[in-house]
Amino acid sequence: MERTFVMFKPDCLERALLGRILARFEEKGLRLVAMKMLRVTPALAKQHYAEHVEKPFYPGLEEFITASPVVATIFAGPEVIRVVREMLGATSGLKAAAGTIRGDYSASRQMNLVHASDSPESAAREIGIYFKPDEIQSWDPSLACWLQAPGEA
Ligand code: CMP
Repeated sequence: MERTFVMFKPDCLERALLGRILARFEEKGLRLVAMKMLRVTPALAKQHYAEHVEKPFYPGLEEFITASPVVATIFAGPEVIRVVREMLGATSGLKAAAGTIRGDYSASRQMNLVHASDSPESAAREIGIYFKPDEIQSWDPSLACWLQAPGEA
């Protein structure tokens, strides 16, 4: 089953939206397989956002992402990388469609509440940055047989 890295950012925790947004992923039927609360350091921010370090918005992004705790998670499911990205909507909350998480809760390019991997390569890299293998659960929820037909997972 495919896995993706999903991080609930400082604005999500500061605005007390963690439970509400996490519930959307649970209600969709995605499987939570890892979760931890941590503070992103400037060094960790540079590692995570390596592709953005030279961009004009990076200093603001680092200040934002290190300002308060985050909750790092891994979700598993069929095509879960694409499914989560579509649930989040466009990067900017100003452009994200209504009905998506950012479309419903964000009015900012930077403070867009949740980060999610954009490809299998990013997912593997980001999961490796935030989690050790023994922090990732392998489990079959008892309701799994009502979430996907046999062979779909
Ligand atoms: P994320 O999906 O975590 O990936 C990179 C982050 O940089 C993005 O969400 C936003 O938080 C931030 N970001 C992207 N583009 C901009 C921008 N134009 N201005 C400010 N922040 C941005």
